Amino acid sequence: MEIGIDKIGFYAPHYYVDMVKLAEARGIDPDKFTIGIGQDEMALAPVTQDAVTLAANAALQVLDEVDKEKIDLVLFGTESGIDHSKSAAVYIHHLLGLNPYARSIELKQACYSATAGIQMAKGHIALNPKSKVLVIGSDIARYGLATPGESTQGAGAVAMVISKDPKLLAIENESTYFTNDIMDFWRPLYSDTACVDGKFSNEQYIHFFNTVWEKYKEQTGRSLEDFAALCYHVPYTKMGWKALRTILEEGTEACGERLRAHYETSIQYNRKVGNIYTGSLYLSLLSLLEKNDSLKGGDRIGLYSYGSGAVGEFFTGILQHGYQQHLYVNQHEELFKARQEVSVEEYEEIFADTLPADGSTTSLDAANDPAAVYLSGVEDHKRIYVNRNN
Ligand code: HMG
Repeated sequence: MEIGIDKIGFYAPHYYVDMVKLAEARGIDPDKFTIGIGQDEMALAPVTQDAVTLAANAALQVLDEVDKEKIDLVLFGTESGIDHSKSAAVYIHHLLGLNPYARSIELKQACYSATAGIQMAKGHIALNPKSKVLVIGSDIARYGLATPGESTQGAGAVAMVISKDPKLLAIENESTYFTNDIMDFWRPLYSDTACVDGKFSNEQYIHFFNTVWEKYKEQTGRSLEDFAALCYHVPYTKMGWKALRTILEEGTEACGERLRAHYETSIQYNRKVGNIYTGSLYLSLLSLLEKNDSLKGGDRIGLYSYGSGAVGEFFTGILQHGYQQHLYVNQHEELFKARQEVSVEEYEEIFADTLPADGSTTSLDAANDPAAVYLSGVEDHKRIYVNRNN
């Protein structure tokens, strides 16, 4: 039985910052952000969007009534959780109107957890072939104003339906994974911005990639030539390239050119959104699927997932025949077109506009937020969500 990604939905908040203008405001050469980091725009979440609403907005785009009935497991990967106890999965289970006979849990391991979700979903469907699983990666990446990490912020969510006989990508069984306890990036409970050892995190991302790639080749006997394309976790678009270029000489020149060209296609959406942590690898896969004009059914795609702290995994999928008919290309084009640019001053205000840390009652003005699902405020320490479609 083939199991894999049947549908992918994506949502980013409606505000973005132009990276050239951000660089100018910080007194930095814009080429550093657009070439050195590889980012053009950065998605920015207003206070009315959090990990739950971003996820619900991504999932609403793709779920039909059959999915809502058949989904009996919701796996919500995030590192921007809104509660230490109640999972974000339970909130979206309700907001999406899913079958009540479902398991709903939140998964955490930095940017890696949606990948863990996919692998767990695969096991669940192997035992329950009629089920579908909703796997989410939803985050708001915050490093702080004028910090070295600022140019690698972002916000957004990817929602994937995992099922048997998937229409997009069948996930193969072979995969290699690696854990090592390191402090390259983390976010203590008391902080709403990440702590990061930037250079060390870059080195470890590449080290973990090389480790799981070598192990994968050893376990499977496959080589670079077996891949039509490779997708990477994309904290910023230059990062995946830095890892990819370490292995390119293992293949022919033509293979190298193919992988490099597909890598460029796979980062088009990420260049406009920034780091969305758990969803970044899947946003890159989505970009590849929606923007390429040469990949076909039967092609093998490699996926490298990395979550600081750290866990890395290399796994693969086989593209399904006719996958092009099951994408939401127009909706994603509309989503990008409808976004509104904010000035650096406005971005700084929006960034600082956060919920009261003590949970006091607040009512939020969502008149400028066009999203279907938004946060309307906090009452009795409970977040109040609204789904405009209901
Ligand atoms: P920095 O110190 O500001 O930048 O931090 P830099 O000085 O290293 O420069 C960046 C690049 O721009 C360099 O290129 C420069 O040469 C180039 P490289 O040598 O790396 O190829 N550059 C220019 N290029 C063209 N024209 C110019 C110019 N000037 C410089 N004028 C850093 C950069 C990424 C470290 C920082 O932004 C940061 O700390 N970001 C957050 C951490 C991060 O994204 N780490 C990535 C790996 S860890 C990961 O992926 C996990 C993560 O997603 C979290 C999770 O798992 O939850 C982060």
